[in-house]
Amino acid sequence: MAARLQPRPPEVVDLRRLGARDLDALLEEECAAWIGELAWDFEKSADLVRRFVDMRALNGSALIDDDEVAGYMYWVLEEEKGLIGDLYVRRAVRTPALEDMLIEAALEPIMMTPMVTRIESQLMMIPWERGRKAPREECAALFARNFMRIDLTRAALGRGHVRRPIYVEKWHDHYTDDAAALIASAYAGHIDSRINDQYRSPAGARRFLHNIVQYPGCGMFFRPASCVAFDAATGRMVGASLASIVAPDTGHITQICVSPAVRGTGIGHELLRQSLAALREMGCRGASLTVTAANEDAVKLYERVGFRIVRQFPAYVWEGF
Ligand SMILES: CC(C)(COP(=O)(O)OP(=O)(O)OC[C@H]1O[C@@H](n2cnc3c(N)ncnc32)[C@H](O)[C@@H]1OP(=O)(O)O)[C@@H](O)C(=O)NCCC(=O)NCCS
Repeated sequence: MAARLQPRPPEVVDLRRLGARDLDALLEEECAAWIGELAWDFEKSADLVRRFVDMRALNGSALIDDDEVAGYMYWVLEEEKGLIGDLYVRRAVRTPALEDMLIEAALEPIMMTPMVTRIESQLMMIPWERGRKAPREECAALFARNFMRIDLTRAALGRGHVRRPIYVEKWHDHYTDDAAALIASAYAGHIDSRINDQYRSPAGARRFLHNIVQYPGCGMFFRPASCVAFDAATGRMVGASLASIVAPDTGHITQICVSPAVRGTGIGHELLRQSLAALREMGCRGASLTVTAANEDAVKLYERVGFRIVRQFPAYVWEGF
């Protein structure tokens, strides 16, 4: 057999051509990256990927480099929307061009799917780089998001001054409809509703809440640290701070919002403080959240409470294809 003189260029193949074992080394490295860089336990997600890959039931692609699986991505459809769920390229070979090859491999079949009008993706394992362009740029919008973290062993979590009569309750599922209406009003015209279209209507926000409460994508929903504020006079819900557990000693704020009518009166701060205090009480040593970099007031609030930016990552939206 003739020796190979030229290294073969990396190749993208359908994920359904592989078995879970082919992805073992890659997923092992990815789990180490999630826990090491973000303090998130990715093992359960990796197990789900393995299970679906073995069933040949996951849409996606793998990047083969030198006969090894060097990267992968999967995507799912949610009604008229495509979502690139995860994308990871091994550190030793990672380049923006390879990551974009995988993104392109997702865009093509999703864009060809009848009825699909929009594609979203937030890829926490891709570092944000100023000037980096989105694949299929002509129909793409790109947003920088901050991954922020607080050390709960040191945070003061001092009580602020709430300048409105409110009372706070722990989350209960019968709050879902009110919380969905609150989210839709809190994000009306907000940059985050350009990134996630579920924020644009109560029905969409209900799906968002259903996802974070029922499914482990953003960690396991954690009721004791999920707080809802009500106006003391009217009983109307005016704010919510929802939390999950992403690793045995790490919490995550999956949602925080306050009704526009009562913003700037200390409610957001108090809800966040109560969620973080509850996480600490349950043994969490740290907590994280993600926030759009352009959402400066929110970033300032988080920094004041003690969060620091760990990394920035891209959120992509494709429309009008
Ligand atoms: C981010 C958000 C939750 C903050 O809630 P909030 O109730 O308005 O925040 P607070 O009133 O607690 O504000 C925090 C502090 O900033 C101060 N502050 C708020 N708005 C201010 C403003 N426009 N100018 C100056 N200070 C301001 C407050 O005085 C407060 O100080 P205190 O904690 O010492 O009382 C709220 O603005 C919101 O719902 N935004 C839309 C949804 C969103 O962006 N969510 C975050 C996604 S990651």
